[in-house]
Parts: sequence; C-alpha cells; structure tokens
Amino acid sequence: MAWQYSEKTKQLFMDAVHGKPGTHMGEIEDPDGLGEHGSIACGDALRFSFRVERDESDPKKDVITEARYLTFGCTSAIAASEALCALIEQGRHTPLDALKISNQDIVDYLDGLPEQKIHCSVMGAEALEAAVLDWAQKRGLDPREFGIEVHSEAEEEGRIVCTCFSLSAPYLKRKIHELGLKTIPEITNAIKAGGGCHTCHHAPGGLQDLLNEVWGTSGGQAAGEPSATGEGEKAEPLSPYQFSKKVESVMEEYIRPMLQRDGGDVEIVDIKDTLVYCSLKGACVDCVGATQTLKALVEKTLKEMVDERITVIRL
Ligand code: FES
Repeated sequence: MAWQYSEKTKQLFMDAVHGKPGTHMGEIEDPDGLGEHGSIACGDALRFSFRVERDESDPKKDVITEARYLTFGCTSAIAASEALCALIEQGRHTPLDALKISNQDIVDYLDGLPEQKIHCSVMGAEALEAAVLDWAQKRGLDPREFGIEVHSEAEEEGRIVCTCFSLSAPYLKRKIHELGLKTIPEITNAIKAGGGCHTCHHAPGGLQDLLNEVWGTSGGQAAGEPSATGEGEKAEPLSPYQFSKKVESVMEEYIRPMLQRDGGDVEIVDIKDTLVYCSLKGACVDCVGATQTLKALVEKTLKEMVDERITVIRL
C-alpha cells in the first residue's frame, strides 16, 4: 500500500535525499548539542546535532545557528527531521526556546502525517530534547532550574513492558501522559510500543494496564479499545451477528493497519462459528512468514480481543 503523504512531506523528503541547498541531512562536527533517539534495530533512528552562537555572559542566551540530522527510516522520518531543523532555524531560537517545539509542530509543518507515522514526529521531538540536555550539560546548566524535566536513562530504567522495542514502564507512562494517548493503537502510532508481537497489549502490567493506571480507569478499557472476552470476565455471549461484527471491527482497527504498515493486508472471506477464513493480500501473499503472521498476529489478536476459541484458516 502507499501512504498518503502531504505534498510538503514528499517535497521535503525529495529535497533532503537529493541534498538540495538549504536542507539539513548531515552531522555537525564537534556540535554544541547532540541527541539521539530510536534504534536501527527497531526500524527508525535519529541523530540530531546543533551549533550555537555563544553568549559568554549568559549561556541561556546562546542561539542555535545550525541544525543537522542523520536519520535511518522512511519518507516521513526524513521529512520530520527536515521539518525539525527548519523549525529550529526559523528565527533565532535559544536551545531552551527550541524545546518548546513539539511533535505536533512538526506534524503541522508537514501539513499532517498518516496516523501510523506520528512516531516519526515524536522521534524528532525526543532527539531535540536529548540534544538540548547535552548542550545544557556542556554549558554547565541545570535544566531543572528552568522548570525543564530531565528524563535521564537511569530515571527511565525500569521493568521492560514492550520487549520488541525495549520500552520501559516509566518511559511508557510518561509518554502516555505527555502525548494524551488513550488507546493501544494510539501508543503504537506515537512511539511504536505494541507494534510488534502484541504480547505486551493485554499481559498483566502491559500497555492496557499502563493506560488504566495513567488515566485512572480500573481494570477497564480505554476509550476506543475493544474488550477481550478473556478468562474470568463475565461477558454476555455474542450472537453470530455480533460475533462477526466484532471480528470485523478488530480486523479493521487493529490487525489490518499493522499488516499495511509493512505493505501487506488481510481480508475476511467467511466466518463460520469460531472459524475465521482469511485471505492474505499485498506483501503478505509471498511472504515466507505468512503462516506465522496468521497464527501469531491475526489469530492471536482475535483470540485476545474477541474470543479465545477462534481459529484462523488461510484460504
Ligand atoms: S512485546 Fe510489545 S509488541 Fe512485542
């Protein structure tokens, strides 16, 4: 499938990869601020650096004069990095002013991003924050004095909730709160957590539990999150019609977007009792891991969210 990128996103990407004058791909030698976010193993990584014009009497008045990035990722990751640099170089930002640039500012600069690509803008904002903290340390400043929260690696250490992306509970809770994330798909779109094997979705202490903890819901589902018919829950039996509608809705809202992210897709062909007959589409058709995808992703998600008796059969 093709992502629906804005003209601005496509243009920024093309300009960057062709090294058009005025674009920012590259790295500043001996930078005043250097920050990284993401990892190549997880598919996206950004190394962001900037140079300042120093104010020798008051380091807080240093002004960023140049920003650069090295990005491993897709069209939107590169365009978001360009947007970040352009926003910073617009006007004379002190590093502390630059921290006010949010991931939403990056999205707005790009004239929007597909929901599933919002994490590219979050990655930019995170790398910027890391670079500003690096600058503050080099300049002997304590950012906490200016009311800026510092989230050091040590503070973010903790129980790993999403092993696929190595994301800890403290980090996830902070981002759920900061970004106002209310559902598991929103978490996945913003910071990728939960976008791999899914086992962290409804496991004890998993993403749903963190959502409940942050937003004060007790044991329930966040808005928009279908409930699972799991062991111990007293769910009303679904009629065949309700069962089919629920399978379809989980397929549309959760499963298909994840497959589409990698160029694949799935279609329900028929539903008989708890047997769900599916046909794989796009990149999934020739994928050597297609059977594994059906069992580990499609069937597992339907079992978790609809009925544990479901069996998915490929047609
Ligand atoms: S553990 Fe979170 S997606 Fe795999």
